Amino acid sequence: MAYQTFNMDHQWLPFTPNRNFAKDPRVFVAADGMMFTTHEGKQVIDGISSLWCVAAGHNRKPINEAIKKQLDTLDYATAFQASNDQAFVAADMIAAMAPGDLNKVLFCNSGSEAADTSLKVALAYHRARGEGHRNVFIGRERGYHGVGFGGMSVGGIPANRKAYGTALLPRVDHMRFIHDPVNHAYIHGEEPVWTEDLLAELENRILPLHDPSNIAAIIIEPISGSAGWYLPPQGYVKRLREICDKHGILLIFDEVITGFGRLGCNFGADFYGVVPDMLNFAKCVTNGVIPLGGVICSDRIYDTMMGAHSNAPEHAIEFFHGYTYSGHPVACAAAIATLELFKQDKLFERAGQMGKVLGDAMHSALMGLPNVIGIRTLGLAGAVELSPIVGTPGKRAFDIFMTCYHHGVLVRPAGENLVVCPPYIVEKEHIDRIVNVLADAIGQHA
Ligand SMILES: Cc1ncc(COP(=O)(O)O)c(C=O)c1O
Repeated sequence: MAYQTFNMDHQWLPFTPNRNFAKDPRVFVAADGMMFTTHEGKQVIDGISSLWCVAAGHNRKPINEAIKKQLDTLDYATAFQASNDQAFVAADMIAAMAPGDLNKVLFCNSGSEAADTSLKVALAYHRARGEGHRNVFIGRERGYHGVGFGGMSVGGIPANRKAYGTALLPRVDHMRFIHDPVNHAYIHGEEPVWTEDLLAELENRILPLHDPSNIAAIIIEPISGSAGWYLPPQGYVKRLREICDKHGILLIFDEVITGFGRLGCNFGADFYGVVPDMLNFAKCVTNGVIPLGGVICSDRIYDTMMGAHSNAPEHAIEFFHGYTYSGHPVACAAAIATLELFKQDKLFERAGQMGKVLGDAMHSALMGLPNVIGIRTLGLAGAVELSPIVGTPGKRAFDIFMTCYHHGVLVRPAGENLVVCPPYIVEKEHIDRIVNVLADAIGQHA
């Protein structure tokens, strides 16, 4: 494809250094399978599934066809006081994939909306049970739950929070981060086993400080994705479930990244053998092609919310929440086709298999390179962590990201990490190329 020019003056780019971008733009104009075509006509490997979304690879015909068909059948229908057939079918498929009693899907359009929706459900649920005083939320340091005020408040990435001061939710605390850079800097496909009890702080300090009876919910990403693929110690997630059960606290898994196959199974919940009370999803559910997110709630939550209205007139709305585009028929048609494609092509199994290939490749090619201080791989994702340049945090990772891009490989800078999380259709040759380009770039920026 020939070089394309267009005016780039009017888009303010999200989570992007705009001044840098203007000097060296990275613009995609086409994509197929694992590859992008840029506005300069170059080919770039999508080493990050386009922000953890494009699990089945780009330009998948069954998804495209489903969208086109849906547009010609029912383009849109109001989501309030009515619904559409595609939303019910998609909810049915998603509930069938979810573990335990997670059976009721509240649709929204993004991971951020899913985070805020789940926090609101938690408050409304406790109020419905007569425990409206439970209004403290607990997140985790370096957690990411999107950019809404709720998600940002329970999130723990300092740069995302620092400008917003008292606008953040007031009754929020954070558990400590799950990384041990001394004993567990290198993790290769298995859960780290810690001698220290990472949740003792929650039990002995955070819960008593707020009093457990005031706590509405604890929200975590099973694996800390946006921060740079940091993995909890063995037993952590199970013990968190036990602590929540002991104190009547809801447990929310934000599976916007770990959901739909990244760990070789349906959800992180399955990987860790723990059923949360709510599970947030987005991204891969439509292969990233059309925005769709949601919260899968337990029967218990739904039944409680309905039960609280048993004496209310039938026209009374039980939960005053929703989005104009909740369960959009075109997005749901895309989800149905995506979930069918995942199953038909056994893509989650493939993610598990290729995850081993990626883990082997990253550990053998990157360990020992200059400035590399950690490598963590699990499922079809991995991060290499670099020592920061004193005084300019994140610069080394950013420079390496840019060099990789100029050599035809898209990786993701996250703090001092470079993250690789390719589509599940990735082949060994792609992995070798991604990792070799990354290794060369790390060497170049030593
Ligand atoms: C765990 C998690 N939650 C929420 C979000 C926010 O999703 P969105 O950007 O769709 O709002 C993300 C995005 O990466 C995420 O990783």
